[in-house]
Amino acid sequence: MILSIESSCDDSSIAITEIATKKLIYHKKISQELEHSRYGGVVPELASRLHAQALPAILEECSPWLSQLKAVAVTNAPGLAVTLIEGVSMAKALSLALNIPVIPVNHLKGHIYSLFIEKESVFPLTVLLVSGGHTQLIEVASLHSMKTVATTMDDSYGESFDKVAKMMGLGYPGGPIIERLASQGDPERHAFTIPLWQSPQIAFSYSGLKNQVRLAVEAADKEDYPHIAAAFQKTATAHLTQKLKKYFKTNPPARFAVVGGASANRYLRGELEKILAPYKAEMLAADLSFCSDNAAMIGRIAVEHYLGGEWTDYRSLSVSPRTNL
Ligand code: KG4
Ligand code: ZN
Repeated sequence: MILSIESSCDDSSIAITEIATKKLIYHKKISQELEHSRYGGVVPELASRLHAQALPAILEECSPWLSQLKAVAVTNAPGLAVTLIEGVSMAKALSLALNIPVIPVNHLKGHIYSLFIEKESVFPLTVLLVSGGHTQLIEVASLHSMKTVATTMDDSYGESFDKVAKMMGLGYPGGPIIERLASQGDPERHAFTIPLWQSPQIAFSYSGLKNQVRLAVEAADKEDYPHIAAAFQKTATAHLTQKLKKYFKTNPPARFAVVGGASANRYLRGELEKILAPYKAEMLAADLSFCSDNAAMIGRIAVEHYLGGEWTDYRSLSVSPRTNL
């Protein structure tokens, strides 16, 4: 079995995965959403302190399996330096105490493997990763061949939901809050310009839309918020689908997947299905419980790394907060 640890942002999570069957034996996640909510976003030092409390409490529950561990896996990139270090420190301690190797895991690759929890992996895949930190289009040929073909120039898709919720004083994380509010609104009452709609570039940008929404929020009263949320969600999603449609013209997808915390958005999933229909491309998405950060996806990819002999010694494990794919 492999024990995996995730602490790249504001979720403390540990999982245990059986290597031979890829079965998830244990999984627990403690979210810090409530604690960060009043700040409208993640406060890194607070997150770090909360991981230091939560991770050992979760680890306690894993004691029945410790003697069966072949390796300990941990997210070491990318993420917040002060929170990554909490998971990495725990992984080093376990590696030393149990005399087992460590498997460093890239968080973004982990999100891609959230598709394959308790399943076999399938490639090639065109993947849209939408989270709080990233908005990326990735061509995945295999575990070791992942190429980012488009990325955001500023904010990410999920982050823009967080910022809109903050403007409206609605708390954090904004994604589920804004999606719920949007379902009560009329998306046609406000007209926001789709970012980069005239540009031939396949890239994403959310800072301009955020500013349009800010002006609308400042001019509106509270009864108007659902309509603003609906128009924002529609425009933010239309930006993704417009760029994807353009990309598909020269790179028709055989199989497409959406991953990351914001892939839980049902409106987004529906709009993606519409643009995939002409290609008869299969659309994969993770189980709703594995869209946001979790250690189960870290454990799932760690099994592949383990089987490929990709592990290291605890002394050479370090954090790389800014390393992407
Ligand atoms: O993957 P994740 O848990 O953390 C990062 O790696 O960033 O993603 C969290 C992000 C947050 O920005 C959150 O607001 C967004 O995903 N999110 C959503 C929804 N649920 C979560 N965004 C839009 N719609 C949702 N339903
Ligand atoms: Zn994530």
